[in-house]
Amino acid sequence: MEKDLSNYRKSYEKGELLIKDVPENPMELFQNWFYEMDHFFPETEPNAMTLATFGADGFPKCRIVLLKKYTYEGFIFFTNYNSEKGKSIAANPNVCLSFFWNGAERQIIIKGKAEKIAENLSDGYFESRPRGSQLGALISNQSEPIESREVLDEQLKLLEAQYEGKEIPRPDYWGGYIVKPIEFEFWQGRPNRLHDRIQYKLDQNYNWHIARLSP
Ligand SMILES: Cc1cc2nc3c(=O)[nH]c(=O)nc-3n(C[C@H](O)[C@H](O)[C@H](O)COP(=O)(O)O)c2cc1C
Repeated sequence: MEKDLSNYRKSYEKGELLIKDVPENPMELFQNWFYEMDHFFPETEPNAMTLATFGADGFPKCRIVLLKKYTYEGFIFFTNYNSEKGKSIAANPNVCLSFFWNGAERQIIIKGKAEKIAENLSDGYFESRPRGSQLGALISNQSEPIESREVLDEQLKLLEAQYEGKEIPRPDYWGGYIVKPIEFEFWQGRPNRLHDRIQYKLDQNYNWHIARLSP
């Protein structure tokens, strides 16, 4: 099989990113960009982000997870703590998040350290989920092989009956992580491949240092 994609070519012309315009705190720039995506392109799931972890096999692995909250402290997503990503984070909490916001011709890359959030916060979010998603979390041994699709559907029926009219408890293997950032790169596509790349790096005194990177 062969398919030549060399004529896939797009000029990025929607914006610019200049050091004189950026805030001292990168979370504020994240928030400004996120607001724009949320306003102009909400149907594109701007809160979908790539999470990269290091596996025990020495390979990095990327997958999409949904950003459910951000604060000055970091970025929160929810998952199964026993999943492949959960095991990888337990062994090495250094992770990378990235957002590709095609509509605005922007990319954000964030290096940081992942840690579990407090149990009561995971409880609070779990309670806010639709019952179907709550049961899904109970049923899925995320990342483990299963015999068939039918196994999941049958377990869903069983648990629907078991929990009818009852509150569904959050399983202790399911909850949130917060990624506390140590480095950001904000990328704005520009014409002629001369893109704007602004980097923020956290120093030991928790001050952010801003630099322009060559495209
Ligand atoms: C749009 C989208 C959103 C997703 N959101 C989540 C999420 O919030 N949490 C999660 O655990 N998996 C989510 N997934 C599934 C993950 O990409 C992945 O398949 C799963 O977490 C298992 O990954 P792992 O085996 O590397 O641990 C999402 C996938 C897509 C495509």
